Amino acid sequence: MDSSHVICLNNKLVNIIIFLIIFILSLFGLHQLNSDRISENEDLTENALHAFIISNANGVSNGYFQWDEMLRAVLNNNQAQLNRYENEITSMFSMNDDMEIIEKRFDGSALYDIITRDGTTYIEFGIFDSNADFYSPDQMIRFSIDPQNIFDQTLSNPKSKYHVEIIDSSGIEGIRVINTEKPLQLFHYVSAFSLALLGLFLIQSFRQFSITSHYEIDGLSNIVMLLSKKDSYTAEHSIEVANIAVFIASQLGYSKKEQRTLLKAGHLHDIGKIGISESILNKSGKLLYEEYEEIKKHSLIGYEIVSHFPNLKEVALIVKHHHELLDGSGYPDGLKGSEIPFKSQILNVADVFNALTTDRPYRKGFDKVQAFEIMAQMPLNQELVTILRTHYKK
Ligand SMILES: [Fe+2]
Repeated sequence: MDSSHVICLNNKLVNIIIFLIIFILSLFGLHQLNSDRISENEDLTENALHAFIISNANGVSNGYFQWDEMLRAVLNNNQAQLNRYENEITSMFSMNDDMEIIEKRFDGSALYDIITRDGTTYIEFGIFDSNADFYSPDQMIRFSIDPQNIFDQTLSNPKSKYHVEIIDSSGIEGIRVINTEKPLQLFHYVSAFSLALLGLFLIQSFRQFSITSHYEIDGLSNIVMLLSKKDSYTAEHSIEVANIAVFIASQLGYSKKEQRTLLKAGHLHDIGKIGISESILNKSGKLLYEEYEEIKKHSLIGYEIVSHFPNLKEVALIVKHHHELLDGSGYPDGLKGSEIPFKSQILNVADVFNALTTDRPYRKGFDKVQAFEIMAQMPLNQELVTILRTHYKK
């Protein structure tokens, strides 16, 4: 198995791991959401159940029942009457199971109490006359109630997975509504799967972008480094040309993005010299016609190299035309005037200025005044030359 296969397998493994991590995180998040929803539903259902029990107890204690007669029956211990009232209450108050008279002191602070004991919930009513100013002091009526039954009859949805649990406590808080539904359902898995796929796609896109940028920058700097070993003048010259071109662009009000494009083009404009023989590049004497024709190929070779980088299409074009001249005497295409990309015109002015003012093995560099005199006679964009001249006069 060669190394590219190993890298490929590793990438697949990384993708699977990323997918699983996002999938698990998504499940966890959805589980949390679902749990919150269930707990909120439980609270709402429990509140509704409490409200129902209290409203029924209020209904019974506040006169829907013959308390005066009940009081007399209790005081007279008239069991037959009490049985009749039990049936009467049972028919109007469906949540009760049975009624009994209990020996318990009624403190009169409330007409009834709801209490929970040993897993059963009770409502205990004080027994009073219709004006509630006379109570049976030592007896109360107790109904046991079945919250699960109330729940099933009144609140329960046939699809619901809720059930009622009685917990030992005094008062109505002794009822709890529990959801037995499994927290994760099919749609959670489907949602988590979709989220994981989306996450994987986003991560992959980001990775692809980072890798492309990384290889572009890395690849280009490797090529520039190779060129500097072959032709150190060109490497240094390229950096200076880039800076001069960016200066002209800034004077023209170019955006930072356009200036960066020009900076890259400056660094890369002579990259094609990597394809030209060292003996010609470093020749100290005058070049022969064929040698000059060979050197002229560098702008096209540079274009071919830079075109391989998808993000550098414009840079490649600027590089290709950096030796075109306004009168059509330049190369490689002999473009004229505005046919020449404007950024190539800027690069050309920067290139010529730097070449003229730099010492070479076969001649000393011109001073700036001389350089501008020479440039004034050349078919360059003279507005751009003027920008440079004005700057260096200061
Ligand atoms: Fe060049």
